[in-house]
Amino acid sequence: MNIDIQPLTAKKSLFEDESKLGFGNLFTDRMFLMDYDAGEGWHSPRIVPYGPLSLDPSCAVLHYAQEIFEGLKAFRRPDGNIALFRPRDNFERFNRSAARMCMPELDVDFVLKALKTLIHLESDWVPKSLGTSLYIRPTMIATDPYLGVHPSSKYLFYIILSPVGAYYKNGFSPVKIYISDGYVRSAPGGTGEAKTGGNYAASLKASMEAAALGFDQVLWLDAVERKYVEEVGSMNICFLYDGKVVTSPLKGTILDGITRRSILALVKELGLQVEERALSVDEILEGAGNGRLKEAFGTGTAAVVSPVGQFTYRDRTVTLGDGRMGELTGRLYDMLTGIQYGKLPDQHGWVEMI
Ligand code: COI
Repeated sequence: MNIDIQPLTAKKSLFEDESKLGFGNLFTDRMFLMDYDAGEGWHSPRIVPYGPLSLDPSCAVLHYAQEIFEGLKAFRRPDGNIALFRPRDNFERFNRSAARMCMPELDVDFVLKALKTLIHLESDWVPKSLGTSLYIRPTMIATDPYLGVHPSSKYLFYIILSPVGAYYKNGFSPVKIYISDGYVRSAPGGTGEAKTGGNYAASLKASMEAAALGFDQVLWLDAVERKYVEEVGSMNICFLYDGKVVTSPLKGTILDGITRRSILALVKELGLQVEERALSVDEILEGAGNGRLKEAFGTGTAAVVSPVGQFTYRDRTVTLGDGRMGELTGRLYDMLTGIQYGKLPDQHGWVEMI
């Protein structure tokens, strides 16, 4: 399939100060779109000026949330070249989300080619400084104009691009986490592993209640026993516990994070043991007090490696170490971003140049 590149009628002004970039509030001049119809498959790939979509108000995504998305990043190297980090892994995960949500899969090679073409056209939007990047949001929505509950026969796939800085407003200072007591994010057999908007919509109430109490994020517990750590709203979570890095196992209720996978590989490279097991709330609360729990950090494309300074569960708050970024957390952040920005060799083949 050839990609139709439509002319740009007007160019937006670029951001002026990279150090002021936030997360996800600024979009580049162009976007990639492609349609799917049952029988015909994917067709009409095109790059068009960024702008609103025209949707029938009855279309399936607006009623039954048949939607999936991804998040990946492109990084500007010191030599000016642009690197994508593990893009194939993201598109393969996108296809797994598609299968779970009864949506059509994508040809990974084709969408990667489309993404590279789009970024090539938008390359002046890729910021240069460490900690900034071009955030990439591939999305698929169900567009059947029909109110019956069934998988759509029409879909729109699109990719939008956003120059970003740190995900959290306070940059990389440790976040305060509220351990959810009353709400759950996902249950066995549900859609927790799929990157689908409904998981995030369902998390909003707990996040708002936690934010009103001064917390940055909610940590979700398992839906059955309400006892074991699963993930944080916008990232997977790891703990330095008894000298090992402990993180929740992939059992279908949490996101199979690409950053999570990368960090676990880097942890092993440092000679530390990784334990994928269910850590309990008690282990967090007691471990912070008796020194068994030394550090905690979130991992995610948007969050990168984000230190956790504090956990609160019901009326109990514990602080980790001196409340500042832990040594291992800082080291892993430097290793990961070193590979992404080209300061360290990419021994794993994670980087794909544009
Ligand atoms: C990402 O890290 O890319 C995500 O999709 C998380 C989102 C909540 C910002």
